[in-house]
Amino acid sequence: MCGIVGYIGVRPAYEILVKGLHRLEYRGYDSAGVALLTDDAKLNVYKTRGKVDDLERFCQSKDIAGSIGIAHTRWATHGEPNDINAHPHFSRSGKIALVHNGTIENYGVLKEALEMNGCTFQSETDTEVLVQLIEYVKETNGCTLVEAVREALKEVVGAYAIAVIDTDEPDTVIGARKSSPLVIGVGEGETFLASDATPIIEYTNKVVYLNDDEIAIIRRGEPLQIITADNRPGQIDIKTLRMSVSQLEKGGYPHFMLKEINEQPSTIHDCIRGRIASRGPEVTLSGVIENKDKFLNAHRIIIVACGTSWHAGLIGKRLIQEIARIPVTVEYASEFRYSNPILDEHDIVIAISQSGETADTLAAIQMARRCGAFVYGVCNVVGSSIARATDSGTYIHVGPEIGVASTKAFTGQVTVLTMLAVAIGSLKGTIDPATQTAVTDALRNLPALIRQTLKLNDKIEKLSSTYTYVHNFLYLGRGYNFPSALEGALKLKEISYIHAEGYPAAEMKHGPIALIDRELPTVVIAPNDEMHEKIISNIQQVKARGGSVIAIVTKGDTSIAEIADHILEIPEVPEVISPIIVSIPLQLLAYHVAIKKGCNVDMPRNLAKSVTVE
Ligand code: M6R
Repeated sequence: MCGIVGYIGVRPAYEILVKGLHRLEYRGYDSAGVALLTDDAKLNVYKTRGKVDDLERFCQSKDIAGSIGIAHTRWATHGEPNDINAHPHFSRSGKIALVHNGTIENYGVLKEALEMNGCTFQSETDTEVLVQLIEYVKETNGCTLVEAVREALKEVVGAYAIAVIDTDEPDTVIGARKSSPLVIGVGEGETFLASDATPIIEYTNKVVYLNDDEIAIIRRGEPLQIITADNRPGQIDIKTLRMSVSQLEKGGYPHFMLKEINEQPSTIHDCIRGRIASRGPEVTLSGVIENKDKFLNAHRIIIVACGTSWHAGLIGKRLIQEIARIPVTVEYASEFRYSNPILDEHDIVIAISQSGETADTLAAIQMARRCGAFVYGVCNVVGSSIARATDSGTYIHVGPEIGVASTKAFTGQVTVLTMLAVAIGSLKGTIDPATQTAVTDALRNLPALIRQTLKLNDKIEKLSSTYTYVHNFLYLGRGYNFPSALEGALKLKEISYIHAEGYPAAEMKHGPIALIDRELPTVVIAPNDEMHEKIISNIQQVKARGGSVIAIVTKGDTSIAEIADHILEIPEVPEVISPIIVSIPLQLLAYHVAIKKGCNVDMPRNLAKSVTVE
């Protein structure tokens, strides 16, 4: 959570920093701030509660000169979202300013020690402790800023990506990371620093991903220098990014979420490109080919993930078990990491994460690797911490997902898991040729099928007005589509603030049926599959108790059309890919209900896209 940006170069820093903050706003939007060093080494710090737009309004009549600066958009952890707790934080003398993404776990102890040495604090944040500590070390040791940062970080327990500037060294920005991401953009005579590459891509596609325990020394007019926490020279490995600015804009849509929903025909096309040929049943995943023995000898697969990625994992479990005949369990990364699991070298841990930065998933990976398991990543963000922490993996390649509610990443994850199941099944000989042909044909047809399903938009938009004032929703599904019910419910609750629960349809009679009355709509996911007849009974049970039903059915399904209040028809598809297709109306329903309620769908309250804290 939280996004940081830094700039040093020849252009006015303010514009670059604020534009960068807008790009990073998906990481948190409780407050925003900027610190600028003017040419005569004066430090101006402006910060305010609220979004980056609020910061821009606040800065309208301020001195925004300077070609060096740092900026921050916050997702509050320590201290309420107000002006004082907003970053940048500055040292007692007012000379050093710092922005931080992460949490300093031992900030209480450090704060006490600093207070005993005369420091006073303005904010309730853990970050202010860090900037005061840096100044304290600098003054006590009479050292340079980089030395002070390096020494101070030795005292710190926790996660951080930081950027620091100092009026005593007006041509320097120091960056450092541990467990929170930091990317450095290397331009011509200018250098950028950010939580991800999106603020940088407009200016340069040459980036360096800082590693844990590394410190970047960025001096105007000098080449980038990296040192390690123990003061050895670090490696500068410049990567070239393949990302375009247009991917980061709304492209005519009112919201990123709607753009991302509509992008799915092309994102799925990108996801399968080069992995499934234009004809034939082969699935080529280099991660599987290169680690053939690991997959052939795996006793077990454990999928770890959070949120939507965890739902994709549940679908992955069914796919892998059915197609590749390997036992699979799916764990919340946050629980798994503290569960003292029994793992060994015959286990494969699959970590799923859109951002590749989720702290719990990253910690689960590190633990799994320590136990000797082989860790395979399914990530979207290229070069992200999780992508780099895994032994191998497959990118979903759906492009930057900016809306906080995950949409195209979910369908990309399920697509990759389907390909993974087929690739392993084919390697092990557990998938028969006819099934393999049917699944790969279905994957090839996905973009067209999604395009067709997106035509439901207008119907769903009209339908959504009926549900604006509802307080609760129930989502039911079975088999492959039980996870779809969970995902539909999560989508609705996170952006519309309507309470929603997903259940396996047959479990309804064991409790949730008590909730059903005229006030509780139920979304039933009921495509033509082997559970169809049974799910019709569930719909009858809801109707018999006065509940209303929105049913997602296969085109031409007259039996459900007769009993449900509303039907949303999807194309006829093989069962294994049905979760991808049914997710389209579920995403659209959540989107339109939230819009009708006047909610900010791209930046729902209390949430952030990238959850880099526990
Ligand atoms: O980046 P990740 O996939 O690791 O993120 C996991 C969850 O935080 C994420 O899926 C979250 O649940 C989304 N907001 C759901 O739309």
